[in-house]
Amino acid sequence: MARYEITGGQPLNGEVTISGAKNAAVAILPAAVLVAGKCRVENVPDISDVRILLDILEDMGVQVTHVEPGVVELDSTNVTSTHPNPDLVRKMRASYYLMGVLLSRFGEASVALPGGCNFASRPIDQHLKGFRALGAEVAETEDYVNLFPGPDGLHGSRISLDVVSVGATMNIIMAACLIPGQTVIENAAKEPHIVDLANFLNTMGAHISGAGTDTVKIRGVEKLRGGTYTIIPDQIEAGTYLAAVAAAGGNVLVKNVIPKHMDCITSKLQEMGARVLNYDDSIRIISEGRLRNTTVKTRPYPGFPTDMQAQICVCMSLASGVSRLTENVYETRFFGYCSELQNMGAEILINGKTAIVTGQEKLRGASVTAHDLRAGAALVIAGLAAEGVTRIRNIHFVERGYENIIHKLTALGARIDRVED
Ligand code: EPZ
Repeated sequence: MARYEITGGQPLNGEVTISGAKNAAVAILPAAVLVAGKCRVENVPDISDVRILLDILEDMGVQVTHVEPGVVELDSTNVTSTHPNPDLVRKMRASYYLMGVLLSRFGEASVALPGGCNFASRPIDQHLKGFRALGAEVAETEDYVNLFPGPDGLHGSRISLDVVSVGATMNIIMAACLIPGQTVIENAAKEPHIVDLANFLNTMGAHISGAGTDTVKIRGVEKLRGGTYTIIPDQIEAGTYLAAVAAAGGNVLVKNVIPKHMDCITSKLQEMGARVLNYDDSIRIISEGRLRNTTVKTRPYPGFPTDMQAQICVCMSLASGVSRLTENVYETRFFGYCSELQNMGAEILINGKTAIVTGQEKLRGASVTAHDLRAGAALVIAGLAAEGVTRIRNIHFVERGYENIIHKLTALGARIDRVED
């Protein structure tokens, strides 16, 4: 197993370029299976979740061509398998998108229940509610979801989600693309990666409107054609680097971002005392002196993202005063990292959905363990800001979602090494 060794205390200076959005890529790549033709996808991040997904697609008969770094071509013309490799499927969460894709293209699917970061119970009942509304029979076993057409066949429908769910919204959009009739998803999630998926599918000939609002409409079409699409920059990767500079100090230009997607994050960092300058496709952050305390409540987009909860908690751990951090999406997410931060000197009191964080002058380096993707990213930020050396185990979690993180941080002056145990 590998670990990161970080010698903290240096401010971060220079430029960092953000990669393609993980949570868009893990939906767009399987969505290419809806197309009986060639899709060229650009700005694909080279992260382990994407590598696993491409392995799953190739195993299903998709012709995957790595054209150049960040550019893959997927040809799903000859795909026939509706039963993706369960051992690969169980390695990541977003493999559940294959349910909607295979149901839509082939009218059936047999997909193992997904794996991925287990920081909370992550049910898929809303996905299945959508598939049933589209006329599918859903047969669940302990390990599998089996889908096939019901007595009335597959048809458009109106679906009102009981929970604002990114995954369910994306899965139902993909399922509805090739199913005859009009489908309406109400109480839909509005994240930037949902708009990105809809834009990809519309580029390939789908008829989707309203993505990015709480009501998405899909008119099923006979077939989709091939084409080229570029994935948006990763809002959470960008937010992670902004939080790292806020916590460790410094002056960094974060390039290849869509500032609009970052509003909720940058406004919070400005509240804490960082200076933020927005340009067309980049953001400069300058952090000098100690941050101020603040209050954060995570919400679905356009609110403060739950995927930035751990990272902003590190900033709060170093701020003057007492901050309050309330988690409204995954209540148990705190437990993935707070005890590790406490080993580094953070003072955090968890009270139900809220963490009360009393800021400290400094954090101290320690040996800590990552328990999920964003918890691991938060420990990296804490190590960069802490005095002394921090060793982080289980870094495979971090490498699921952060492309070239060692290279990118080293270029900013960080002292971080990847060490094999
Ligand atoms: C996506 O997960 C992201 N993952 C998560 O990012 C992110 O935290 C989450 O959206 C919220 O933004 C990917 O896109 C691969 P949800 P997802 O369905 O789709 C409940 C990261 O760090 N729910 O929006 O699984 C659920 O329990 C990862 O990149 C149901 O009750 O999240 C949660 O409380 C971690 N039933 C809430 O909805 C369902 O059928 C939001 O979940 C589905 C969800």
